[in-house]
Amino acid sequence: MRTQVAIIGGGPAGLLLSHVLDLAGVESVVLEMQTRQYVLGRVRAGVLEKSSVDFLTEKGLGERMNREGLTHEGSAIAWRDKRLFIDCQKYTGRPFMAYGQTKIQEDLDAVCGDRVIEEALDVTPHDVTSDVPYVTFTKNGEESRLDCDFVAGCDGFHGVSRTVIPQGFLKEYERIYPFGWLGILSETPPVPQLTYANHPRGFALASQRTPMLSRYYIQVAEDTKIDEWSDDRFWTELLARFPATIADGIVTGPSVEKSIAPLRSFVAEPMRHGRLFLAGDAAHIVPPTGAKGLNLAISDVYYLSKALIEYYDEGKTAQLDAYSGVALNRVWGAVRFSWWLTELLHLFPNQGEFKQRIQESELDHLASSERFQAAVAEQYAGLPFD
Ligand code: APR
Ligand code: PHB
Repeated sequence: MRTQVAIIGGGPAGLLLSHVLDLAGVESVVLEMQTRQYVLGRVRAGVLEKSSVDFLTEKGLGERMNREGLTHEGSAIAWRDKRLFIDCQKYTGRPFMAYGQTKIQEDLDAVCGDRVIEEALDVTPHDVTSDVPYVTFTKNGEESRLDCDFVAGCDGFHGVSRTVIPQGFLKEYERIYPFGWLGILSETPPVPQLTYANHPRGFALASQRTPMLSRYYIQVAEDTKIDEWSDDRFWTELLARFPATIADGIVTGPSVEKSIAPLRSFVAEPMRHGRLFLAGDAAHIVPPTGAKGLNLAISDVYYLSKALIEYYDEGKTAQLDAYSGVALNRVWGAVRFSWWLTELLHLFPNQGEFKQRIQESELDHLASSERFQAAVAEQYAGLPFD
């Protein structure tokens, strides 16, 4: 088998890259280890920056998103008995959109389906520093070889692509936070605004998917078992972490999905080794506070697809050579913002009352300073790609 770009991983990064390349007449094959059904069933975050919405729309993926996505002018932060609205529209002119990653995966699946090889096992990139790289994999017990010009590593944090880069070439930065997020979906009307809460009992978040589907999260200890959390226990804890005025407006009901995600910041540099290019979670992870993960996968694909298209259309490698630096610049901005928001809003083990008061003081400062709000809004809304 031969293609121009072999893409490892069929999450949002891999499928979006395949789709954008296809629109420009560049061939690709996506190798995904899981079944299609499994990939389509994953529930993840759901906030799109305007740049992400614009890019997806420009690439013909806006039809359902712009119909079903909920546009927000900003989001709120609650602490003690206070509530502050961070007005992205006012300060940046850039609203964001609540649209679940599960739906984006479906929209991408509809346009990429026939280029994806699902259940591709033992996927291994070879000779990525030569001009003739290739990828081997096993499907239904049979080994295959895919020759290509480039390999795109879009296989998430636990993927194989990053691991083929020899130690001396890669620098990794990591921070693991000592807690996780327990999230539920419930078929209840969400609160009108996406609202983050700092509380002495721990962080909470009220988010939404559709007018009748809500997404809520609470910070839990890192060794938490999901069976310890009945729906009743979840709702009691969630409501306790919001000021009464907000808690009173939360409609509870049975959960239809419940899961725990760890929190981590991680960056691997550079995002290129020879003809292997990393994109999305394969190269970086941010904690979900601020919902930057999916947006970074989309911005990586924006830069990488442009670079590959320039190479095939004009024979130039300038953008490919610049890819890692340009992508990492944006990545570090989002890593810093997600880290800052995580530090501001979560309860850290053994933090004592001192840190709680420092957090509250910083939130009070934010509430009293329009300049501070404008700076936060700018990072929350995200800057244009170029
Ligand atoms: N071989 C083939 N496929 C693999 C391998 C492998 N060795 N390892 C992982 N994969 C697949 C996974 O099954 C998954 O479908 O790669 C895909 C990676 O997808 P994501 O983890 O969704 O990563 P990405 O496409 O970069 O999207 C980033 O996902 O994790 C969220 O918050 C994150 O929203 C962000 C988005
Ligand atoms: C979500 O809706 O899942 C969500 C929203 C905002 C975040 C994280 C997750 O910061």
